[in-house]
Amino acid sequence: MFENLRNEVLEITKASADSDLKLQQICDLLKANVTHYDWVGFYFKNGDKNELKLGPYAGAETDHTIIPFGKGICGQVAVSNENFVVPDVQAQDNYIACSITVKAEIVVPLFINGENVGQIDIDSNTPDPFTTEDERFLEFINAEVAKIL
Ligand code: SME
Repeated sequence: MFENLRNEVLEITKASADSDLKLQQICDLLKANVTHYDWVGFYFKNGDKNELKLGPYAGAETDHTIIPFGKGICGQVAVSNENFVVPDVQAQDNYIACSITVKAEIVVPLFINGENVGQIDIDSNTPDPFTTEDERFLEFINAEVAKIL
């Protein structure tokens, strides 16, 4: 499944469109095709502020359009520069709930020239659904996205 989706992501990134549209298409593609992806979005560092700003996403609207560095899973990844896989969100103290249906989350940082500029964030309504395959897949996506930003 991820192999086909990798090719579809490449089709999107190499097309002639603006980058926000491409990011939106990637979110829509992932949400529609990966059953355990229920919310898919990108957050990016907001200018020179130590906060994240929501970019394109697919799924329910969220109040959390700005997230300070250090807060929640997303804010922690902004400072750790490492993938954060959460099998059970209820077991996390530093977590920002977007919807009561969410059981698990994965956040993978996005680097441009070694700098952590943002992240892809996936929420799942399925408990403990993420494997290292998800991590490699999302790292691949972020590396491709980094080339078009
Ligand atoms: N749960 C995230 C907040 C973003 S929403 O999932 C869209 C967090 O704890 O950082």
